[in-house]
Amino acid sequence: MSRYVVTGAAGFIGSQLAEALQDAGHDVTGVDCFTDFYDAAEKERNARGLDVRRVDLADEQLELDGVDGVFHLAAQAGVRSFGDVFPTYVRRNLLASQRVFEACAQAGVRVVFASSSSIYGETETYPTPEDAEPRPISPYGITKLGCEHLARAYGSAFGLDAVVLRYFTVYGPRQRPDMFFRRVCDALRTGGSFEIFGSGEQSRSFTYVGDAVDATIAAMQRAEPGAVFNVGGGEEASMLEAIALLERLSGRALDVRHTGNAKGDVSRTSADVSRIAAALGWRPRTSLEDGLARMWSWASATVAAG
Ligand SMILES: NC(=O)c1ccc[n+]([C@@H]2O[C@H](COP(=O)([O-])OP(=O)(O)OC[C@H]3O[C@@H](n4cnc5c(N)ncnc54)[C@H](O)[C@@H]3O)[C@@H](O)[C@H]2O)c1
Repeated sequence: MSRYVVTGAAGFIGSQLAEALQDAGHDVTGVDCFTDFYDAAEKERNARGLDVRRVDLADEQLELDGVDGVFHLAAQAGVRSFGDVFPTYVRRNLLASQRVFEACAQAGVRVVFASSSSIYGETETYPTPEDAEPRPISPYGITKLGCEHLARAYGSAFGLDAVVLRYFTVYGPRQRPDMFFRRVCDALRTGGSFEIFGSGEQSRSFTYVGDAVDATIAAMQRAEPGAVFNVGGGEEASMLEAIALLERLSGRALDVRHTGNAKGDVSRTSADVSRIAAALGWRPRTSLEDGLARMWSWASATVAAG
């Protein structure tokens, strides 16, 4: 049994990571400041059954006495990050992560950092391996890449033991309300129209949340210090294909309207997961159809119940 801290523990992925660690018998302390990026009531529901302390990592101290490892998932997520919201991204991503890395380096504790496929931007290689040149096209991706560099700098200057995971579009129960599948589920549930950015031909390596959680725990327990891994789903699908799948699973039809392209959104992501498969034996196991079925059953029941 180990003692772990999970930051962002009231969030979509962090809450399910904390539960999986707890179910495996570990001692888990969650940290989250319940930002208002989306309804705090959802975060309260996510955090039920977990010990989540209200700490704002951008200016409060992270206590690490007796802790064996930190999963750092707290962040301002979402690629729509140009304009007035930019200082929030700097504060919740760069500033908060710098303080987490500083604390972990001082305490000699491993940190697994949740980075993003957004650091690749419009890359030239698909599927994209970890050594592709990063060319983020959103301020969000730029802050995440900055955090990766910070982790490396703390590694060489102060011996920080950091492992970086680049998640590719994670989905499943509790997905954030701003994310694509969640918006589709909400529109299918309420019968409203659905606005899709661009043609809908954009494609993603969609990753089921349970698979992302397994990769994250494996990275803490077995990765080499300094390792960087893609964590991506096995099947790439376009937005329109995914909508068709959700329509079939729900037995409902969606009234889709097309709007202009969203700035900062890439046209394609595709994860090369051979590195993490070789190093940790991790592979995505959940098909898009099974994952979406679980997500629809959650979205149609839990969210509707409030
Ligand atoms: N969901 C995805 O598809 C995806 C893809 C790539 C990377 N990621 C990364 O994975 C992590 C988790 O994402 P998520 O989708 O679960 O997001 P989320 O917004 O549901 O969770 C993030 C949590 O961090 C908390 N937080 C933000 N700033 C904080 C601060 N200063 N101090 C304490 N808590 C703070 C928020 O309140 C929130 O509950 C993030 O780092 C995100 O950038 C997510």
